[in-house]
Amino acid sequence: MNKAWWKEAVVYQIYPRSFYDSNGDGIGDLRGIIQKLDYLKELGIDVVWLCPVYKSPNDDNGYDISNYQDIMDEFGTLADWEELLAEMHKRGIKLVMDLVVNHSSDEHRWFEESRKSKDNPYRDYYVWRPGKDGREPNNWRSFFGGSAWQYDEQTGEYYLHLFTKKQPDLNWENPKVREEIYKMMDWWLQKGIDGFRMDVVNMLSKVPGLPDAPVLTRDRYQFGSQLYINGPRLMEFLTEMKQKVLSRYDILTVGETPLVTTQDAVMIANEETGVLKMVFQFEHMDLSAETGAEVGTVKPRKLSGLKDVMTRWQKGLENRAWNSIYLGNHDQPRSVSQFGEDSRYRVESAKLLATFIHMLQGTPYVYQGDEIGMTNVAFESIQDYRDVATLNLYKEAVEEKGVDPQAALKVIHAKSRDNARTPIQWDASGQAGFTKGTPWIKVNPNYKEINVSAALADPDSIFHYYKKLIQLRKENPVIVYGTYDLILDSHEEIYAFTRTLDRERLVVILNFSRNSPMFYLPENISFSSAELLIGNYNVHPSEDLRGTMLLPYEARVYRLR
Ligand code: NOJ
Repeated sequence: MNKAWWKEAVVYQIYPRSFYDSNGDGIGDLRGIIQKLDYLKELGIDVVWLCPVYKSPNDDNGYDISNYQDIMDEFGTLADWEELLAEMHKRGIKLVMDLVVNHSSDEHRWFEESRKSKDNPYRDYYVWRPGKDGREPNNWRSFFGGSAWQYDEQTGEYYLHLFTKKQPDLNWENPKVREEIYKMMDWWLQKGIDGFRMDVVNMLSKVPGLPDAPVLTRDRYQFGSQLYINGPRLMEFLTEMKQKVLSRYDILTVGETPLVTTQDAVMIANEETGVLKMVFQFEHMDLSAETGAEVGTVKPRKLSGLKDVMTRWQKGLENRAWNSIYLGNHDQPRSVSQFGEDSRYRVESAKLLATFIHMLQGTPYVYQGDEIGMTNVAFESIQDYRDVATLNLYKEAVEEKGVDPQAALKVIHAKSRDNARTPIQWDASGQAGFTKGTPWIKVNPNYKEINVSAALADPDSIFHYYKKLIQLRKENPVIVYGTYDLILDSHEEIYAFTRTLDRERLVVILNFSRNSPMFYLPENISFSSAELLIGNYNVHPSEDLRGTMLLPYEARVYRLR
């Protein structure tokens, strides 16, 4: 397997709006990030993935871009950004920018031109169609509810928007659009950035003719994912992007690719011929999620399901492509609330999850706040939510489908994207030390207990545990490059696996439960000594790997000799 810096790196994701506010307007900003770089340095991460900071009317918090080559007013200026990059590089931290080119904002100059007339030179930059029988051109549903088409009076046609109506889809069939985007990407790369995270990048190519999606529910609009996910020209577009831009730089590229299979990933992120370095897959996130517009209950997650998915990805990509490993981001509930237990065993389970993502094969992505075990929030009123997807979901459920508001809120408490978007809890002072003003979204009331300052002061904190994991990764190539093999396949409480590189072998033991099951290392794994590299309890009932009782959410990693 080829060695590469981006395989060895740990990535930290920053959602700037909620990271740190330096000027008291209640919104996180670039100077706020600069002030906290020493904190990230101390944690030991190598790369920051910065969610969009470009000019934007913020219908979807920056994922609706009105100018790709300038900075959003609330976040600062291009000069601030230049300083951020320089300060990061000074500390040996690399910067990966978000690239959102499936769609722009409807306030982008291209779209403002495009909607003016059918013969405007920018008309074909977007996907316009006449209506069909007095209705939308097809039955596609937007990811954020309602039709994926918006009627525009000016020219009497509809434009496509897979997300909100303020996020019109760019027309990748048009070579001029592609050229503009490549030019813009090159402009950022010339400034010295270290890569791109590419938003919904497997949705760029739509099936010609834009046919109706199969009708699977009683809703008026249907998810047409097979008509625009991994579409017919996707690889052609990405190959062109690689030839014209990416291949000229030694960068990290990661595609956000909903509904990809391991086969797709092996093609897109192939070790030899790939167009991107890695992709984000969602299978493990969807195990517990009731996503989309349906308001239902949150499904319980079975450990065997998680093992199946992760093992399929670990083995499916082995020596052929590279995994990205994550349990949370700005679109997901907090990882400790979804995969761990955020009340009684918050600290133990957060450390267990940290062990999990750092010990799998692939590049770990740490979402801001997970390093101190931040949890989901449960606002009592819908008024306190800000996320457009959450607000649309609530409106559709309560106003259109007659769902009981309390029932809708219950689902929102479990699944809303705002769970991960509350401000970072820096200390126990007012507004969690995030801002001197009024935060754009309320802070999680648990900030007095859970905050960075407390975590830094406590040598046993989740933060210090992350730091140790990151350090171990730097010291032990087996953690990066070792082969993954599942053991105890069908155990419903313990997830255990080995990592092997040449003569080095680790065994990773994770008790994903609040019970105290016995762990037995299978007889076919021989060893003469076992050294504990890291664990989330200080005292172990026994370290006899041929039969040892695990404590609730206990995680241990041993080096076998
Ligand atoms: C995925 C992003 O992560 C999410 O936050 C955004 O709403 C959609 N793509 C649309 O850009």
